[in-house]
Amino acid sequence: MSQPDKFTTEKITEIHAWTPHLFSFKTTRYRGFRFIPGQFARLGLPGDDGKIIWRAYSIVSASYDEYLEFFSIVVPGGAFTSRLSQLREGDEIHVEKMNYGFLTTDRFAGGRDLWMLSTGTGVAPFVSILFEASTWEEYERIVLVHSVRQAAELAYGDTVASLREHEYFGHLSEKLVYVPVVTREAHDGALAHRIPTLLDNGELEARVGFGLDPERSRIMICGNPEMVEETRGWFTGRGYQVSRRGQPGHLALENLW
Ligand SMILES: Cc1cc2nc3c(=O)[nH]c(=O)nc-3n(C[C@H](O)[C@H](O)[C@H](O)COP(=O)(O)OP(=O)(O)OC[C@H]3O[C@@H](n4cnc5c(N)ncnc54)[C@H](O)[C@@H]3O)c2cc1C
Ligand SMILES: NC(=O)c1ccc[n+]([C@@H]2O[C@H](COP(=O)([O-])OP(=O)(O)OC[C@H]3O[C@@H](n4cnc5c(N)ncnc54)[C@H](OP(=O)(O)O)[C@@H]3O)[C@@H](O)[C@H]2O)c1
Repeated sequence: MSQPDKFTTEKITEIHAWTPHLFSFKTTRYRGFRFIPGQFARLGLPGDDGKIIWRAYSIVSASYDEYLEFFSIVVPGGAFTSRLSQLREGDEIHVEKMNYGFLTTDRFAGGRDLWMLSTGTGVAPFVSILFEASTWEEYERIVLVHSVRQAAELAYGDTVASLREHEYFGHLSEKLVYVPVVTREAHDGALAHRIPTLLDNGELEARVGFGLDPERSRIMICGNPEMVEETRGWFTGRGYQVSRRGQPGHLALENLW
């Protein structure tokens, strides 16, 4: 149970709806709140009984931004998101002071290519990782795959494209390959199969233009738990190892539910 001094109360400063069931929002940021890109925060809202309902939310914003940004699904009837989706600018939300999670590049040793594979809101932590200068300095090549059902759900595609003009690492942006995947409608420029299928049939490597290789590749996977499990199995079946505490491997994973 969180005690009052374990969290701060922040204000919602901006809301952006992507689709009727996907939106992003920014909050004020407690000066003492620290995180490593890829980590998540725990957000709290009062429930009907006055008890706070807490949920994990990956942080989209950069570690140096003065605000925090999150990207949320709306689950019909969901205890948290049915409340969250009613909030407006100026409303309050609790944020635990602790940062959490191991979907961070410091889980890896070596590696020259970073592959970030996501479904749905699982793209959120990867946007934060892309805003970190060290990501661009440490890796020679960076791949971001975002798999969604419908093209309108390709949130942050424009943000990723705008990295090309970034004042500090824009000149490195040729390192990045962004691969949109749309599975339930035809969409120009997007691949059409689920991530494990794209790995199996070689389509993903063909699109990216270079191959996966345990010597070079470090892989982060985030999103639908079944996708995470199937994709993990694909890699571990080929000799890749999951990073453990104090034991860097090739894979870092996060399930969103
Ligand atoms: C480490 C971690 C990071 C997370 N980061 C995010 C994030 O950045 N954005 C976000 O929207 N959610 C994220 N989640 C999920 C989030 O914590 C809540 O589950 C979500 O807000 C729904 O809350 P709820 O109470 O409305 O429904 P819940 O009762 O929590 O969930 C009900 C059902 O909704 C589905 N569901 C829940 N979350 C998602 C999702 N993100 N995408 C698709 N289906 C989902 C699942 O089927 C789940 O069983 C994260 C979860 C974890 C564990
Ligand atoms: N109310 C609405 O209008 C609305 C709209 C969309 C979603 N939703 C609900 O929101 C929830 C989450 O939807 P979401 O679209 O964000 O997440 P999702 O169902 O996880 O789908 C996101 C992406 O992940 C893929 N995926 C799903 N399972 C996979 C697996 N085992 N392996 C590899 N890829 C997999 C999907 O492909 P596939 O397309 O092949 O499954 C899709 O490309 C669902 O419960 C859904 O019912 C509601």
